[in-house]
Amino acid sequence: MAGRLIPMRDDEVAQRVLDHIANGTTDMGDEVWREPVANYRSEARLERERSTLRRFPQAFCPSAALPDVGSYIARESAGVPIVVVRGEDRTVRAFRNVCRHRGMRVANDAGCTKALVCGYHGWAYGLDGRLRAVPHEHGFPGLDKSRHGLAPIKADERHGIVFVTIDSPAAGSDLGDLPTLIASDQQMMRTVTRDTDTNWKISLEGFIEGYHIRATHPESFYPYGFDNLNVVETFGRHSRVTYPFQRIRKLESVPAGERKVMGLGTYVYHIFPNALVTILSSHTNLVVLDPIAIDRTRSVNYTLTNGGRDAAQSLAAAKRDSDFVGNTGAAEDRAVVEAIQRGIASGANDVFTFGKFESAIVHFHKTLDAALARS
Ligand code: FES
Ligand SMILES: [Fe+2]
Repeated sequence: MAGRLIPMRDDEVAQRVLDHIANGTTDMGDEVWREPVANYRSEARLERERSTLRRFPQAFCPSAALPDVGSYIARESAGVPIVVVRGEDRTVRAFRNVCRHRGMRVANDAGCTKALVCGYHGWAYGLDGRLRAVPHEHGFPGLDKSRHGLAPIKADERHGIVFVTIDSPAAGSDLGDLPTLIASDQQMMRTVTRDTDTNWKISLEGFIEGYHIRATHPESFYPYGFDNLNVVETFGRHSRVTYPFQRIRKLESVPAGERKVMGLGTYVYHIFPNALVTILSSHTNLVVLDPIAIDRTRSVNYTLTNGGRDAAQSLAAAKRDSDFVGNTGAAEDRAVVEAIQRGIASGANDVFTFGKFESAIVHFHKTLDAALARS
């Protein structure tokens, strides 16, 4: 497992799951990790984490959320207001969402536009960030418009996702060989932004281990799944946890080379540092966890269809599936992470202990520690 750069093929995952079912086993990491609780409570630590986040490519949105020339999304990321926009050449660009006159935002929320026009005095920027027009320009004698474009941010559109790297990239922060996470026939369904009273790492940890499934989700996920049976892979700084459903057993009678996991289990990718891609039976989520305070996280959840069939059918199936997951399982997970946050100042724990079933979380903490140490 260690050192792999891309996750396993479906048939390899399926075989590993079937072996675990036969043997009553699960994937286990090679160490127990003790993470100081102080690391979830320290303002100084959060500031260092946010500055590290700004130096790695952060998943910002699915490509499908910017379908047209002029499609844009504006929001803050690690404390910086950002706008991403698809240009006339269909390239996605990112800028600091800050007017070069007196600093107002030039875009709000999301939409489609021909130009980014500041709402304060009307300075207008092209989709390429260039300052195009200044109302009553004679009031600014000598203004060099070519030097007052929007401040650019590195943007990369890869694997069906738009990534932004806000500050100068950290050593070794290349995007590398992620697999295609969101395919071009997957349609955007909805975007939900929600603030939770948690540290961002507590929210993240809730996604990437299956040890909790039976206790936390006794009526929602567990009846369809297994107790503590997962495939856990790390690749580069990222990881993927496979949560098989009981119905994956039917792959026993499918030739190894034809085994597909979709519909028979959930894949949860952690894309370092702060994004998750969850691939369920009929829908896919890109979840971005933005730390806004030591005890507050903004999660932006983009839901897409899984594609692969007729668009209307995909949409209907995705809606049914996501209502079920969103109304039950996700609410159970939120209740847990918010309860953890409320107890975090109690003094009961100096450390949180992550065992061998929680190895994707161990990989995350090690990777984050290494990134912090380098910056
Ligand atoms: S601050 Fe943007 S036009 Fe004045
Ligand atoms: Fe859960």
